Amino acid sequence: METKRFMMNGSNDEAKIKEAAQLLREGEVVAFPTETVYGLGADASNAQAIEKIFQAKGRPSDNPLIVHVAAKAQLQTLVEPYPAYVDTLIDRFSPGPITYVLKSKGNVAKNVTANLQTVGVRIPNNDIALALLKACNLPIAAPSANISGKPSPTRGSHVYDDLTGTIDGRVDGAPAEIGLESTFIDCTGEVPLILRVGTITRQDIQEVIGRVDMLETKEPSIQPKSPGLKYKHYEPEVPLILVTENDKVQAVIDEQKASGNRVGALVSDQTAELVRADEVIALGGTETMMANKLYDILRSFNKSELDVVVCETLPTEDVGLAVMDRLRRAATTII
Ligand code: TXA
Ligand code: MG
Repeated sequence: METKRFMMNGSNDEAKIKEAAQLLREGEVVAFPTETVYGLGADASNAQAIEKIFQAKGRPSDNPLIVHVAAKAQLQTLVEPYPAYVDTLIDRFSPGPITYVLKSKGNVAKNVTANLQTVGVRIPNNDIALALLKACNLPIAAPSANISGKPSPTRGSHVYDDLTGTIDGRVDGAPAEIGLESTFIDCTGEVPLILRVGTITRQDIQEVIGRVDMLETKEPSIQPKSPGLKYKHYEPEVPLILVTENDKVQAVIDEQKASGNRVGALVSDQTAELVRADEVIALGGTETMMANKLYDILRSFNKSELDVVVCETLPTEDVGLAVMDRLRRAATTII
């Protein structure tokens, strides 16, 4: 199939958004930018349209999708009455990189929620995404717009690489401002529970509502609270070795080189000055910058250039926790 491209470049953008919105209304699937990563959208009430998302991504059908809405009033049409702290969170953080898991009213197609009684909803903080949501006037289910298992797409070109020819349209905008997926928070109980860390941190949330719990993700259980957590994620083309003790990074690189491998070092800007490898890949000088570049860098690894990449453990303060969470999931080996 031909994938129609809607390039947001300041010329006729409104007409392009209208056309993309029309595709969504007709049950087609369209990729679009958000502030976190690019999403692959379809009408959340249309089971056939949703099925196309699972097909295009190669996504397991038991992994539910996030629904995107333009405003709080639209969110409320999808969910049962919720605890008071949810209003506080929405008023403080939305539109923004946070997804609320709430009790579903059953207004979305069953394959969106993989038959769960809950639904994840968020209001993205991106002008193009919001314009598209308003233009189609529908809740839009959208997982990240990548092939399942690959690093999430933070640029229009990543969507092109993964999904050209298998989706109906793609809206192409600037690179994602944040670069990591939204914080995912279960708000069905008295105390909210963070299921996936993101750039809105536990501390940010605690500051506005007090207690919030964290799902322990170190030992993925057989039936995790969030179905997607059990799947392999963000797998780069070149094996990634994550080293937990940073004073051993150079030794691991040297060992890999001694066995004949071309070795990349994935490190902070600060370590980049010190480490020796065939290629030194600097992730950034701050956690926010690392979050922003991570997926683009993981996607750039190429078998024809490197045999293995060795990565150091980065600071886990603030946004660093989310960066390390994704790196751990991306790692082929952790030593
Ligand atoms: O920033 C984001 O959240 C991006 C953009 C496109 O909005 N979306 C995104 O979607 O990351 P996806 O599908 O790649 O990740 C959604 C995660 C999955 O791990 C899924 O299992 C989980 O959310 N999830 C969705 N609905 C859920 C629910 N009702 N209960 C528990 N987990 C749920
Ligand atoms: Mg994803």
